[in-house]
Amino acid sequence: MYREALISLRFNLTDNCDAAVCLEPDLASVQENGRGGSAVFTTVLSSASTFTCSSCHVMSETDGFASDGFRRPGHSLLNSTRRATYKNGIFDKMLDAVNVCVTEWMNATAWTEADTDWINLLNWLDDQSTVTTADPLLIDVVAPPDDLTGGDVSNGRELFNTRCIVCHGFDGAGTQLAPPITGIGLPTDYIARRIRTSGPPDSVAYDGLVEGVMPFWGADRLSDGELVDYSCLCSIRGGCRYRHGWGRPDEFGCNGLQQYQCQDRSERYPE
Ligand code: HEC
Ligand code: HEC
Repeated sequence: MYREALISLRFNLTDNCDAAVCLEPDLASVQENGRGGSAVFTTVLSSASTFTCSSCHVMSETDGFASDGFRRPGHSLLNSTRRATYKNGIFDKMLDAVNVCVTEWMNATAWTEADTDWINLLNWLDDQSTVTTADPLLIDVVAPPDDLTGGDVSNGRELFNTRCIVCHGFDGAGTQLAPPITGIGLPTDYIARRIRTSGPPDSVAYDGLVEGVMPFWGADRLSDGELVDYSCLCSIRGGCRYRHGWGRPDEFGCNGLQQYQCQDRSERYPE
């Protein structure tokens, strides 16, 4: 595959280099071979994961939201090829940063500089750039707040259905990307920990990750206030036992919740 790509690679003559004549590979011609960059962006890389780059990143956002109205856990990749460093300055090369996602989130084999998929993806990403240089991102993995009381279920639901929905589906019913998580009575502190610090504990790029294949939500992708509302929604939707008996969340709100009574996943609101 790579051999074929090289053989049919076209070169363009340029005059903007030190040597008298320069040859520049016409990367667009590579895209004629194998999957084009946008296909690489939107398809799975391994049979061991259902995630695609587009599960977690988009190419353009307004105030952190994609054109479909949803927010992804990862930042937009617009102008990402123009950043000088990646992952809080750990990597100078974009490929090294991308390979963290490829291996740690997508369960696939790391790309080399010569991989057609990578060349096509890089070319496609770079083509869309709107600036010459872009500032590096600050990626903040933070611990969840200790106090998770005061959450608002209906706010949590609205937030959920514009963010978590991408993988967990409407109202957390589950999709092929992620399991159902509402109505099963997960404890709030567990939910909060998963949202903030989900990911491989031995990650080469991020400190503080605890467990799971779900990506963490960093400080600037989700606020602590939102986190409290999500934890509330995910822990009690479907009902929980309250001090005064069984009830739906909206009857009592999260403040009246006796958290220990929601920890048994078999407890549900009797329909
Ligand atoms: C399961 C979620 C997930 C998938 C799939 C994923 N990423 Fe990421 N990626 C993240 C998270 C979370 C971060 C850290 C926060 C951020 O930078 O947006 C990140 C960071 C990055 C960064 C570093 C940004 C920087 O400037 O430091 C790049 C580049 C990147 N991803 C590209 C990709 C590409 C390309 C793919 C597909 C091959 C991909 N990612 C797949 C979740 C994912
Ligand atoms: C990129 C896809 C993706 C997104 C977006 C995502 N999740 Fe997840 N989540 C997963 C996957 C996959 C799992 C199951 C594997 C694991 O536990 O890591 C999971 C597991 C969880 C769990 C643990 C469930 C259990 O039974 O142990 C919780 C809680 C959770 N997600 C909450 C959320 C919330 C809240 C959001 C939105 C803020 C969210 N997730 C966004 C993919 C995602």
